[in-house]
Amino acid sequence: YNCRKSELKTSFTHPEVPQEGIDLLARDCEVIICQNVPTVRAEILEKSKGVDALLWGGHDALNAEALDAAGPQLKAISTMSAGIDYVDVAEVKRRKIPLGHTPIVLNNAVADTAVGLLLAAARRFHEGRLKIETDKWEGGHLNWMLGQDVRDSVVGFFGFGGIAQTIAKRLSGFDIDSVLYTTRRRVSEDIEKEYNAKKVDFDTMLSQSDFVIIASPLTKETAGIFNATAFGKMKKTAVLVNIARGGVVNQQDLYEALKTNQIFAAGLDVMTPEPLPANDPLLSLPNLVLLPHLGSATQRTRADMAVIAAHNVLRGLAGEPMLSPAY
Ligand code: DGY
Repeated sequence: YNCRKSELKTSFTHPEVPQEGIDLLARDCEVIICQNVPTVRAEILEKSKGVDALLWGGHDALNAEALDAAGPQLKAISTMSAGIDYVDVAEVKRRKIPLGHTPIVLNNAVADTAVGLLLAAARRFHEGRLKIETDKWEGGHLNWMLGQDVRDSVVGFFGFGGIAQTIAKRLSGFDIDSVLYTTRRRVSEDIEKEYNAKKVDFDTMLSQSDFVIIASPLTKETAGIFNATAFGKMKKTAVLVNIARGGVVNQQDLYEALKTNQIFAAGLDVMTPEPLPANDPLLSLPNLVLLPHLGSATQRTRADMAVIAAHNVLRGLAGEPMLSPAY
């Protein structure tokens, strides 16, 4: 890279960016690392003043305020996430600052989480645990705590990018029947063939799927699209899984749909807000499996994300195309 150490600085919002990423940046840059976890906005804004690049490690709002605080010399930004709903992309674009993110390397980890949630919700793991805890394990029945089969099921995807396809790959090992997907653009015929997948409209996907997996970005178009009307179109036996962003789901409507058994169960890795308060009504639902946004939370995946983000930053600084540009 065409930059000298003394000339460049990089600001991190987060002190927990894995060392692999920091080491890579430190070859070419002076690295400034925030101290506070959880992040403190004032510290981020103060420490990023005058830097050449941002490796935006958390999900803090990356907006005009943050860009102004860094200053006009800013030449490159990378998030350490696939989803960039917390970035004002239009504002970054307007300032012509290259922006990177870290998709692909987290596909496997997030897909594992999705399959875990799908199985746990379909087979009532959380409810089963509650039965034991409350001394309600009813022995001797043949029809107690029956769940939904994954084999021969139709799996619907809302969004069919890299993460969704990685989930579909895993589910093919569970002998599912077929995949329906709803996206703006059709995927290639090869991919459709590989996963026995068919592009259908939203309502068809909802009404014909035994499992519905949300794997789309959160945008103006997708915000709250899983609402009472959508749940009303799903099978009563259907299981919903969300590993994307909480905002895609109208959470109050989901609560009602689960409470009234309009759908069978759900598994969520993402919700609104995050962190979810411990007294949130969602926690009272036996047919809901909740995880605290653990999708990409493995050591190897986080290290890979840091390395990709660091490469994005270094390439942006060198005026080269980023490894995974966000626009
Ligand atoms: C992502 O990469 O978008 C995951 O939600 C983890 O941040």
